[in-house]
Amino acid sequence: MAKNFYLTTAIDYANGSPHLGHAYEKVLSDVIARFNRMRGKKVHFLTGLDEHGQKVQQSAKKAGVSPLEFCNEQAAKFTDLCKKLNISNDDYIRTTQPRHIETVRLILQKLFDKGDIYKAEYKGFYSTRQEQFLQEKDKVDGKWPEIFGDVVEITESNYFFRLQKYQDWLVDYIKNHDDFIYPRFRAKQVVEFLREPLNDLCISRPRERLEWGIPLPFDESYVTYVWFDALVNYISAIGYGTDKFSDNWPADFHVIGKDILVPPHSVYWPIMLKAIGVDMPKSFLVHGWWLSSGEKMSKSLGNVVNPLDLADKFGVDTFRYFLMREMNVGQDSEFSFDLFVTRYTSDLGNDLGNLLNRLLNMGGRYCSGKVPQAKIEEEFETELKKSAAETADEAMRLYEGMQFHIALEKIFNFIRGINRYAEQRAPWKLAKSADPKDLELLNTTIANMAESLRISSILLAPIMPGISAKILKLIGASPVESFEGMLQWGNSLEGAKLAEKEILFPRPEQKAQ
Ligand code: MSP
Repeated sequence: MAKNFYLTTAIDYANGSPHLGHAYEKVLSDVIARFNRMRGKKVHFLTGLDEHGQKVQQSAKKAGVSPLEFCNEQAAKFTDLCKKLNISNDDYIRTTQPRHIETVRLILQKLFDKGDIYKAEYKGFYSTRQEQFLQEKDKVDGKWPEIFGDVVEITESNYFFRLQKYQDWLVDYIKNHDDFIYPRFRAKQVVEFLREPLNDLCISRPRERLEWGIPLPFDESYVTYVWFDALVNYISAIGYGTDKFSDNWPADFHVIGKDILVPPHSVYWPIMLKAIGVDMPKSFLVHGWWLSSGEKMSKSLGNVVNPLDLADKFGVDTFRYFLMREMNVGQDSEFSFDLFVTRYTSDLGNDLGNLLNRLLNMGGRYCSGKVPQAKIEEEFETELKKSAAETADEAMRLYEGMQFHIALEKIFNFIRGINRYAEQRAPWKLAKSADPKDLELLNTTIANMAESLRISSILLAPIMPGISAKILKLIGASPVESFEGMLQWGNSLEGAKLAEKEILFPRPEQKAQ
């Protein structure tokens, strides 16, 4: 049996509230998942929640609840986000689940038995905010950067994972696997980071300092460092150590933000896998950040956009459309509410919504609410069909290459082209003519508008699944689960029943009420 197409997102910190960055990563991954399903692949799509660590322990204490109660509340918020955004994940992992805890302990034991984890005394600087040990080289202008919060000097015994042992192997692997990190320019940052000798990674925290974590199987007076714990989710969720594991592994894509590529995903994770004898994931898809006035949106900066407010007000698919239209995957993008409204009113309302309304209106008025037969083919028709075929080809190629923003640009150019075609043919004028050829032209125009809109809607399905299904239903087309044979121009809609007029994208002032 062929392996599933396995796709993961980063697991969100349970400590914060869902924001635009989380929403984007899920929508981006969902679009990839839906696109691949529609291409006939069997997809396994995982997302989840990262629940251990100091910050969660502190937040729970502040809220006067146990860490697990706190995480349960947070998990409800994050899974609600997935539901509202129509995310089609097949599984949701929480790092407090037994399946995860058991796997982390299994791996730790394996590495300990192998001698890749050892105990040593550590004396040095520790950032409580980042829960990590620091070195002099982490200072900027002789001071600890703000992100580390309080830095204290400590001496303690801890367990270390032998990263350095695998450094040369990792450098070679990255240099020899061009597809390992996408976009490629990010791989350079990793190679740059690996120019310096790696320090072994401290993977334990004494329990007297941190209770909320997974106890080490070989020394229960310590818990596991949160990154070591979190990364394992990608394999604990799919049954590492069982027969089922190879149904999904190796992952086709780990989708992550640029802030967590170096070192956790590009150094710790590959070395952890190598050390336990598991194949490398095929690829990391590293996306950029949504910025607000040039800064990363973050809870501590107070510049967070609540994705649910936007989705509630303008519709989930508008929100998904905007994220995919405005972000060039891999780059950063500035969030602008004005641009959001412009995209909504102009692309969605004026171009797509208007086309649908014209079709339903004219189909009702001139063709008794049914898609007529297209009998004529002249230059305008040939052009429209050619444009449909080119758009479909290009959009599929661009989706495949993660160029979603350009794919949408092409699809919406085509949608504007359909509106232009309607204006060129002007069915409202043809309807006044007594010439039988004009009647045939009128029918042809309505049929071709319906067929072009059908193809556009199918192309939009991975990004706007709800709107796509709705349009298809309104124009009398069957629901679509696969691209197979669905993007060719044909007469499949002839005789289909066109619905009554329906406003898909009401004007924002109407929405406000
Ligand atoms: N818990 C870790 C990931 C562990 S994965 C084994 C974590 N969590 S996070 O909640 O801080 O971030 C989750 C994802 O959201 C990351 O991939 C991160 O890059 C992404 N984003 C967080 N803020 C973002 C923006 N402002 N813009 C886009 N994505 C960003 O890191």
